[in-house]
Amino acid sequence: MSQKIGRNDPCWCKSGRKYKVCHQSFDEKIARIKDAGHIVPDHDMIKTKEQIAGIKESAKINIAVLDYVAGHIKEGMSTEEIDRMVYEKTTRMGGVPAPLNYQGYPKSSCTSVNDQVCHGIPSKNDILKAGDILNVDISTRLNGYYSDSSRMFCIGEVSPEKQKLVRVARECIDAGLKEVKPWGFLGDMGQAVHDYAFSHGYTVVREIGGHGVGLEFHEDPWVGYNSKRGTEMLMVPGMIFTIEPMINMGRVEIYIDDKNGWTAYTEDGMPSAQWEVQVLVTEDGYEIISY
Ligand code: MF3
Ligand code: CO
Repeated sequence: MSQKIGRNDPCWCKSGRKYKVCHQSFDEKIARIKDAGHIVPDHDMIKTKEQIAGIKESAKINIAVLDYVAGHIKEGMSTEEIDRMVYEKTTRMGGVPAPLNYQGYPKSSCTSVNDQVCHGIPSKNDILKAGDILNVDISTRLNGYYSDSSRMFCIGEVSPEKQKLVRVARECIDAGLKEVKPWGFLGDMGQAVHDYAFSHGYTVVREIGGHGVGLEFHEDPWVGYNSKRGTEMLMVPGMIFTIEPMINMGRVEIYIDDKNGWTAYTEDGMPSAQWEVQVLVTEDGYEIISY
């Protein structure tokens, strides 16, 4: 928190109002919570109205791309073909696929099938077959603003066990969202996700989490699900982050493919499922930005 800002100075949030009538008491409340030993957000994690509007424009494309994939995905298609649709749809709408060339990532999307936990790289050699479950993870940049969300898809006839995994992974998002509100903690959300998965006998991947997102693809805070209620970062209005737990049917351990350096797999070869929502903390709860 900046200490130097005067009561009559313009507020740091760029509302154009004086600090004393805008965010001063908000900052004082955060400072008290910090003094009590909690982790609190910086001002640069709190988006302005204008930034939120830009991020929502980006998310319109992100959602449209996911809807487009949902309408066209089918048995016999390669994951490369999905990636092609993502690239075409995104660029036709004026956006840029955020994964493309991100830290050397070679494709426009992530397509993670069955025991692939996340960051599956689309390939012409990976053909979708009946019984597969997969995550398609889409991220878009538009005018410098980022959006990021993912969904699961079931191909043809899928076993009841895998269907349940996909359903419970989605319900984990609902359980987490219930805990997204100002002056709560990310650990409230994390524990809710973990407890829900655990109650169905599943495990939640520890090493890979969600993230702040909006002005960059990946921003602070890191968002885990093995956290406890009342711990981790304070949530305040204007924060935007993803909730994207990877739910394993079997054991929690994962490994990264050492040939491509990206794709995570379950160590036991059992399936994993993930949905990802991008969420804004509001004055009275949350608003979904992309899903
Ligand atoms: N939604 C994914 C994430 O936040 C997107 C990863 S794209 C990649 O991890 F380029 F990093 F693979
Ligand atoms: Co993400």
